[in-house]
Amino acid sequence: MPKTKTQFVCQSCGYISPRWIGKCSECGEWNSFIEETTASTSGDRALGARGIATNGVATHPVRLSEIASLEESRIATGIREFDRALGGGIMPGSIVLVGGDPGIGKSTLMMQVVRGLLPGSNTLYVSGEESPRQLKNRAERLGLANDNLYILSETNVETAIEAIRSMSPDLAIIDSIQTMYRPVIESAPGSVSQVREATALLMQAAKTTGIPVFVIGHVTKEGAIAGPKVLEHIVDTVLQFEGERTHAYRILRASKNRYGSTNEIGVFSMTSHGLEEVPNPSEVFLSERRKESSGSAVTAILEGTRPILVEIQALVTNSSYSSPQRTVTGYDARRVAMLVAVLEKRLGTRLGHSDIFINIAGGLFIDEPAADLAIAMSILSNHLELPIDPAACLIGEIGLGGEVRAVPQAELRVAEAIKLGFQHIVLPQANMKSMPNVAEKITLRPVAHLEEVRSLVL
Ligand code: TYD
Ligand code: MG
Repeated sequence: MPKTKTQFVCQSCGYISPRWIGKCSECGEWNSFIEETTASTSGDRALGARGIATNGVATHPVRLSEIASLEESRIATGIREFDRALGGGIMPGSIVLVGGDPGIGKSTLMMQVVRGLLPGSNTLYVSGEESPRQLKNRAERLGLANDNLYILSETNVETAIEAIRSMSPDLAIIDSIQTMYRPVIESAPGSVSQVREATALLMQAAKTTGIPVFVIGHVTKEGAIAGPKVLEHIVDTVLQFEGERTHAYRILRASKNRYGSTNEIGVFSMTSHGLEEVPNPSEVFLSERRKESSGSAVTAILEGTRPILVEIQALVTNSSYSSPQRTVTGYDARRVAMLVAVLEKRLGTRLGHSDIFINIAGGLFIDEPAADLAIAMSILSNHLELPIDPAACLIGEIGLGGEVRAVPQAELRVAEAIKLGFQHIVLPQANMKSMPNVAEKITLRPVAHLEEVRSLVL
């Protein structure tokens, strides 16, 4: 028996304390400490191997030129959007964490990855969540025809790893890391110690066998994967599967990637027969736009390196309350409050007695200020009941003085807007310098202040 020791671990951030404490001094969470017993040597040993691919080869210095390039050995999954997020396919011996809210489609995505693999590629799917029958049901629904998928219903991670070693599949999937446990650790599955230890063991298995391992993890309410940040340090790649459950669109984003850029995203839509790739997200996000209605504006956002056109909708109504409502879906509500204040102060628009609702079509969340201009103009457009020029795309950040500020990668955004048939592109003056020439029928309208925009598009 290895020596065991008792410690208290914060279930929110993984901070370890020898005593129980009420408030975590690391992350500030209350009542998050749970007593955990751990084998004293295992953690160090497992974590010591992090990131170092030994593959059983004796370690001695080698020339860079003698090392075989990894790029050629990537495994394509047949799902372009998935390969793109990974940086060009699955890397042998890598461990990838697939995180996301429960029910967002992680298991479905992995099942489809299996479907897309080359015929003859074996996959081991270790499930601690669903029964083999449930998995079969899903596989049938997704039209999984190949017979090379092996299901193992198991929650003991050591048994799972034995199976990986003895079967030696081309790909192993663990669904989910929160259900896995090591018998030597006494805390419950899903606790920080269990999750961390199980992942470290899987990491070792991936590195020594060269088999890529995908680990599915549920995101906790704080948005951290499996509670602790420690997991993100162990694995090679973190893929986040995001989206609103009530909307069809899903974005797969690499938030960490040892084997590629973290700028790439993949876009999917959830249908009755599984996830479908969305190669042209802009077309989809604009497909339901009612061009002549007031309060609708189009902007170009950047998701990683990919420009995507989205529709912003605003509804401004007379409020029957003394303090009017401001409801924002898909954008920072404080930023919208700031834009409303700028409209009032700089353009003299009276919005103090109006309820304002902002919605980003398609359930997207925009986290960059380049959408400011479109949001401000959609509010103004609905307030005045004047539709915005349907051929206009509005790009720009707005400052407190009402000035329109430059945005990064304006050329990419403008190119996407032109591709989608927009003819009038309103953009920050400061971005004009880097703008290439455009076709004659397209007009670029550089602006420096919000005041100028009104007459251009309304
Ligand atoms: P699932 O992959 O089980 O989510 P996770 O593993 O992230 O918890 O998928 C969850 C949702 O996806 C479920 O609510 C049903 C829906 N779904 C479809 O709409 N179409 C399909 O073909 C499949 C398989 C699932
Ligand atoms: Mg699942």
